[in-house]
Amino acid sequence: MKKVIYLDNAASSHPKPDIVIRKINATLQKIGANPGRSGHSMALAASRILFETRESLAELLNLPSSERIIFTKNCTEGINLALKGLLKPGDKVAVSKLEHNSVARPLETLKKNGVIVEYAPCDEYGLPDPKKVPKVKMLVTVAASNVTGAVLDIAALSSACKSKGVVFMLDAAQMAGSIPLDGSLCDILAAPGHKGLLGPQGTGFVWFKKGIEPDVILEGGTGSNSEEFDSPSFWPDRHEAGTCNTPGIAGLGAATQYLLKRGIASIRERETVLCEMILDEIRDIGKVITYPPYDINKKANLVLFNVDGTDPSQLAWEMDNQGVALRSGLHCCPEAHRFLETYPEGGVRVSPGYATTKKDVKQFLKVLDGFVKHR
Ligand SMILES: Cc1ncc(COP(=O)(O)O)c(C=O)c1O
Repeated sequence: MKKVIYLDNAASSHPKPDIVIRKINATLQKIGANPGRSGHSMALAASRILFETRESLAELLNLPSSERIIFTKNCTEGINLALKGLLKPGDKVAVSKLEHNSVARPLETLKKNGVIVEYAPCDEYGLPDPKKVPKVKMLVTVAASNVTGAVLDIAALSSACKSKGVVFMLDAAQMAGSIPLDGSLCDILAAPGHKGLLGPQGTGFVWFKKGIEPDVILEGGTGSNSEEFDSPSFWPDRHEAGTCNTPGIAGLGAATQYLLKRGIASIRERETVLCEMILDEIRDIGKVITYPPYDINKKANLVLFNVDGTDPSQLAWEMDNQGVALRSGLHCCPEAHRFLETYPEGGVRVSPGYATTKKDVKQFLKVLDGFVKHR
């Protein structure tokens, strides 16, 4: 593999901290037993891994009752459980104008079954306006857009939803681990383990506040109450049928510990400096178009851009040939590109991570400048 400047952390973070890799290796080598199934000491050690990861995620994201964190294979699976487990024919759900397909597609299916889906009145960036929360059963929104980076005012929206009796569900894919977040302000929070949380792919979770009881979507063996046909009534077993990704969850636990020590705020600060540098300097390259929001404090750590007259996929391909990994196209989020009027070609997204350096950013800008000058 050639040396790559990896600037696609909004898709999956890379590289992972060493401690994550070591923990996954150690789990595979020493704790290969099935958690929650057998009573021997290795199986108990595997169960402890799940417990400890739940606890540290709850601490990191301020989620009360860690047993209500349900491990999934990614953010999408958690979102599916929440939407399909809670919304019934006739229920109304409101969304932002920036929803990822992981929300838009399950809602499209639910629409066919009689769920009513509408856009919430939004602000200039496409995010729900806290002053105009509609009277619906549930409001679902990105915490930060994976296309524009626009960041939600979670506290304001949380209190608006509370006062109207609306269930507030957050897709925290672009915020968890990257921007400090008080999860207790929402009713449901879904997140991937493999982006800002710095865990491996194949991990994610969804958390439900006490009192929010989704139907069971995935049924099967849990190692508990095996004499009964119904899934156990207690959490997390109720929603975690089948063998978990124990090595992955061990890695996610180590990543969470790493974030607790280093502090999400310090990572956010570092990434913000890099994004500011990108936003400032990319504009000096002729023909580059950028998109709002421009206020770095209201923006997640990513920048979408286009080069006038150039297909974004062609541009990302050329950049990759020069050793710079970016993501082009619609980013699984046609709605946000419609909102920006960059549909159907989309754009190119550059997303630094916790390990990106100023030198990496300079090299990216140099390669882009060279591309624009020589085309
Ligand atoms: C805003 C948003 N929601 C959901 C997802 C889906 O995450 P996963 O691929 O872990 O299911 C992503 C991934 O890019 C995302 O950016």
